[in-house]
Order: sequence, then structure tokens, then C-alpha cells
Amino acid sequence: MCGIFAVSGKGNHAGNIILEGLKKLEYRGYDSWGIALRKAGKDAILIEKEVGKISKVNKELSPSVEGIGHSRWATHGGVTRENAHPHQVGKVTIVHNGIFENFSKHKKQFEAKGTSFCSQTDSEVIAAILNSFFEAGFSPEKCITKTAKKIDGRFAFLAMFEGISGIFAARRGSPLIIGRGKTETFIASDIPAFLEKTNIVNYLDDNEMVLVNGTTVNFKNLQTGLPVEKRDIKVPWKVESAEKGKFPHFMIKEIFEQKETIARAINHDENALNQAISLLKDCNGVFFVACGTAHKVAMTAEYFFAEISGRKINVVPASEMPYFERFINKKTAIIAISQSGETADVLEVLERGKKAGAKILSLTNVESSSIARLSDVHIPILAGPEKAVASTKAATSQMALLFLLAYTEVGKTNIAREILRSTSSSINDFLNERYEAIIQDVAKTIVKKENLFIIGRGDLYPMALEAAIKIQEVSYIHAQGFSAGELKHGPIALIEKDTPCLVLGDDLETLSNAVELKSRGAKIIGISPQRADVFDEWLKIPDCDGAKAIVTIIPVQILAYHLALLRNIDPDMPRNLAKSVTVK
Ligand code: F6R
Repeated sequence: MCGIFAVSGKGNHAGNIILEGLKKLEYRGYDSWGIALRKAGKDAILIEKEVGKISKVNKELSPSVEGIGHSRWATHGGVTRENAHPHQVGKVTIVHNGIFENFSKHKKQFEAKGTSFCSQTDSEVIAAILNSFFEAGFSPEKCITKTAKKIDGRFAFLAMFEGISGIFAARRGSPLIIGRGKTETFIASDIPAFLEKTNIVNYLDDNEMVLVNGTTVNFKNLQTGLPVEKRDIKVPWKVESAEKGKFPHFMIKEIFEQKETIARAINHDENALNQAISLLKDCNGVFFVACGTAHKVAMTAEYFFAEISGRKINVVPASEMPYFERFINKKTAIIAISQSGETADVLEVLERGKKAGAKILSLTNVESSSIARLSDVHIPILAGPEKAVASTKAATSQMALLFLLAYTEVGKTNIAREILRSTSSSINDFLNERYEAIIQDVAKTIVKKENLFIIGRGDLYPMALEAAIKIQEVSYIHAQGFSAGELKHGPIALIEKDTPCLVLGDDLETLSNAVELKSRGAKIIGISPQRADVFDEWLKIPDCDGAKAIVTIIPVQILAYHLALLRNIDPDMPRNLAKSVTVK
């Protein structure tokens, strides 16, 4: 949530570099943007900020050697220019990603002493605290150390101090990565911001700070101020993987990438898989924790494990986990599933679980993420950068990997690999422009509807819930998923003439539930390998046996995408959302 980006270098183009870098981080928040710049040899820091998306901005910024920028997802305070970052108090200018939980106590103390604030944000209070220490004569490093002690909550901030060159950054809980260019250094919430310029990075860990001045980079411990050594890491991502290429949107590009990503997700050697599974041995409780789409993936995996390895797994949305904390102890394994690896609700469960002695396994798409780094064992899902807000390829990769793990638990990894390889090649065959056009036509028939229902049973039940998330978030149509058998216990009252209902699967029970819907006037859109009489429209998918959940969701992703386009919504950046939810 919120993208932050800084550059410090030799040239005079910091402004334009930040502008372009922020555009690549826009998926993290797109309510407003802002940039603070310092000219060579000048103390004064110039700020430009506006409400709206940074992708729409096309301007030459004044020549400058270094600066900091921000693309905002509003938490404290509405979407206004005043609340847009950067925030400047006295001689300190900052951008911030995170939540300063106890900010109002500090704000009141400042106000009592006559300080007035321009915004309603928690971030401006961080600037005020830094400035108070700076004015009292402390060095920037000391100001940061002292300020960090006052902040409860997660943060990553970048700061500039008047009269002192260089950018200062600190982190606790929210991501920050340093990009090591030849003539300049970058600091960003995510690698795509600077990937065009360098793929050599250092990861800032929790409770660390960094001072960047041109290509001089010094890491320090945030509590002690002592130097910290860092390894340079080469990131294997290609620039194109974080760009749209020939596709009009990231969402459709990422949907089509599923032609390759499933095969990649299962490309782990036996050792890595066995290591993951060994964590589950001797555990008398296994919990999957995740949020949103990743939670629906976890629910699907609950079916995989039940059926394949006979293990009962508890699946809990991360934000509900505090109510089950008494079951977490040294004999528990927590399996975290997260695309970004930064989701605050999941991170909190892991931090608390770790304290209670639980073992932690995670599946994320970002190997350097906070969740990955906190885990005893981490398996990357290898989907490549996912930038559209709606998770697509990451979800199917997670499912493939969990399917593989369920088989690994019973020593049958090879059987799973075979099923998934054949699933991957079927996806490769059916996912093409012709198929997309068929789905686009179906989208046209339901685009004006305000309600849509989805049913499925077994591992397609969580996919019905996931289908609803996809459609809601990018098309704003009220979509709801149900287990096929539950529908007649209440929700069927919502069905009217022509209410569109997606029916996932063609097993007899589900089809008989579809008939019940049709008898009440519903328009039935079937997604299955076989056509059934009850379907008014049919989206054919290949028969992938045990891995059917993976293929069933793909036409729904395409449907959601086309519903968004037909309703004039930007599917990559739907309202109110952000890609990485780093606030609780
Ligand atoms: C929906 C979506 C969200 C995420 C959720 C968890 O398409 O993307 O529901 O799945 O915010 O995010 P991660 O997977 O990054 O933990």
C-alpha cells in the first residue's frame, strides 16, 4: 500500500526518474502522488503534489540531483492535495508507507506547543517528530533512531533534511529495497520501480536504516545506529516481465501468462518440497493463513490435502486468526499464502505464531518479502511480477504448488507433476484470443446486470468465492459465490428472471442445483469440460481431473476483465484498492 521511491545520483534528472519510477509503483496506491526534489548545491527542497493517478502526469520536473516520491493509497485523511505526500515540517521532508498507530497522541502534544499541521495524516506527524529532533541539534541518523522509538506500527519512510545532502530511509514492517545503479542509487517499495536501471539490490530488513548519497550507501541498525553489512543480490527478473508489452492492461497480460506460470510453479526440486512437508510432520495442528484471493486458494488446498494426503488443515483468514491463537504452540505449523509477501494481517499472525514457537512455511511470489524472510521454510511460486490489483496468475500458481505439496506428503510428487504438466499444456491450448472473444460476448450479455451469483462444490466451492472477488473488484457488479448445495438454504430467494448465475462444474449434483436456479428464471452460464442442457451459455474448459480448480477460474478472470472494460473501469486500478495491503 502506497509506493515510495527515491533516487540520489550524479545527474540532474532525479525528478523525471522518480516520476517514471512512481508510475511503475502505481499499483500500490493511486489516490494522489507527490515528489520532493533537491537541486544541486541548493538547500531548498521543492515539492510537487496532486490528487489523481501519476500515470496521467506528463511534465518536465525541474533539474535536481536527488529526491523522494510517493503514490498514495489513503489511510488517514481523505484524498486531498493536503494529505498527499511528501509532508514537510520545518527542515524535514518525508514520504511514508505504513500506519503510525499512536500518531494522534504525538500530534496533540505538538499542537499543545503551537505546531499546526497541514494534513490529517499520521505521516506529517513523523515529519514533525524528526524535525523537532533535528532542530534540537541531533544528526539525521540520531533523529531517525529517536523517532522510530516513538512509532507504534509498521512503517517505511524516506526523509530529506535541509542543508544535508542524501536520502535517509528506515523500515519496520513495510518493504524497502535499495537498487545499486552505476551513477545513482534508488530506494523503493518494490523492484519494478528501478528495474530498468539496475537489477543489483540490497534488501533493507526490519529495524534498519540506510543513508544514500549518490552511490555511497551506508546501512545501520535502527536501534543501535551500528553499521550493518549487506550483500549485493542480482534479481533474476527481466524488465519486460514488469511491463505490459503488447497487452492493453496488466490484468489480461497476467491472465495469459498462465500459459507458462503453472509449469514454472512446480519447478522445485524434491528437496525443497520435502523440506516444506517435513515441517508438517509431528504437528498436531496445521493452519493455512491468508487474505482475499490467497485465502480462497488456501480453502481449495484444504480440499487437496483432505483428498490426496488425508490431512485436515484449518483454513483461517489472517485477520480472524487472533480468535484461534490458543491453538498455536510448538506443535503447530502455520502455512502462509501470499502473493506480495507483505500483507499486514498475515505478517502479524506469523510474528505472533513465531513467538509461540510455531513452525512457519510460506508460499509467496516475492522471495525477498517480509513473509518469506520470517518463515522457517519458504517456497517461491515463481509467477513473476504481478502488477494488476486483481490476483490471477499468482493464485493459480499457488494452487498448483499446494496441489504438488499434497502429493509430496504421500510420496507421489511425480504423479502431481504429471497432472500439472498436462494441465499447463491444456491451458496453453485453450487460452487464446478466440477464447477471449467468446468470453467477451458472454460479458456483453450480463454487463448491465447488478447482481450475479456463482456456485460450485468441492474444490470448486472456494473457486466460486474467488470468482465473486474477481468480478466484484474489477467490474463493481455485486457478485456472490455459494457452495452449490447451500444455495437453496436461503440465497435462492435472490434469484429473479434473467439473474446471471455462473455454474462451476458439470457433476450431477451441481447440475441439479443449476436446474433449481433455472426453474426460478436464472440465466445459467456453465464453466465445465462438458456441455449440459441446463446451460444457456457454456464456457468450455479442458478436463484436468484433480487440478480442475486451476483451470476453472481462468475463464472467470477473463470475464471479470471484459466486464470491467465494458463498464469503463480500469481493471488494473479499480477504485478503493491497492495491490499490497500493508495495513491491518
Ligand atoms: C484480489 C486480491 C486480494 C489479495 C489479498 C492478499 O484479487 O488480489 O484479495 O489476494 O489482498 O494479498 P497477498 O496475496 O499479497 O497476501
